[in-house]
Amino acid sequence: MKIAIINASPKTRNSNSELILSDLKHYLNDQCEIIDTKLSYNCAFNRVYNEVKDADSWLFAYPLYVDNMPSHLLKFLEWLSDNKLSTKRNIYAICNCGFYEGVQAECAINVVKFWCNKTGNVFSGGVGVGGGEAFDALKSVPVGYGPKTSIDKALGTIAQAIATKSTTSSKFVNLDYPRFLYKIGATGRWHKLIRKNGGKVKDLGRQLT
Ligand SMILES: Cc1cc2nc3c(=O)[nH]c(=O)nc-3n(C[C@H](O)[C@H](O)[C@H](O)COP(=O)(O)O)c2cc1C
Repeated sequence: MKIAIINASPKTRNSNSELILSDLKHYLNDQCEIIDTKLSYNCAFNRVYNEVKDADSWLFAYPLYVDNMPSHLLKFLEWLSDNKLSTKRNIYAICNCGFYEGVQAECAINVVKFWCNKTGNVFSGGVGVGGGEAFDALKSVPVGYGPKTSIDKALGTIAQAIATKSTTSSKFVNLDYPRFLYKIGATGRWHKLIRKNGGKVKDLGRQLT
């Protein structure tokens, strides 16, 4: 069993998608051969396709951008269907978002599902991960524990489906951590980031003209 994992976060490194994928790989363990690749804004779709074309299944991991997937991933899916380059594969999707509620990612997971219906691929399950911004702070928490318990359980279920080339129902999961504390932490992070980049906290709410 070969699974191609396509990380479509626009970040070149340290993405939350990458951290979530590392938990997924813990569950995949040695059950399948993994091909890791990155899909970014300026990459050649041909190169990515050549890397993943021999895999039995593909998994797309991406962040939620304005309630959907990043545009370069949408373009890649369109390019594949226009060129009739993918059919009959098992396709999985993991979309993480900044909002606390994983269900925010439902539309972005459904885009992959509808693409599968159109192209003759088999949509085999998705996970919508809420609170993606917390993953960096949770790096030292062991897989399956603490605030990651429910998310990692859903990742374990999709890993099992991947390893057996089967289909599982999509799940939308939140952190096991109070929403108001996540909001305080996330706001603090924005404040830190804007100061680091030479701005002021009050600029965060400023209307651009
Ligand atoms: C341009 C942009 C748009 C975003 N839109 C949303 C959104 O609509 N809903 C949401 O919950 N998070 C949104 N986010 C937050 C990201 O989904 C979140 O930071 C995610 O964890 C990033 O994942 P990554 O590190 O794998 O790229 C947005 C972030 C950016 C930069």
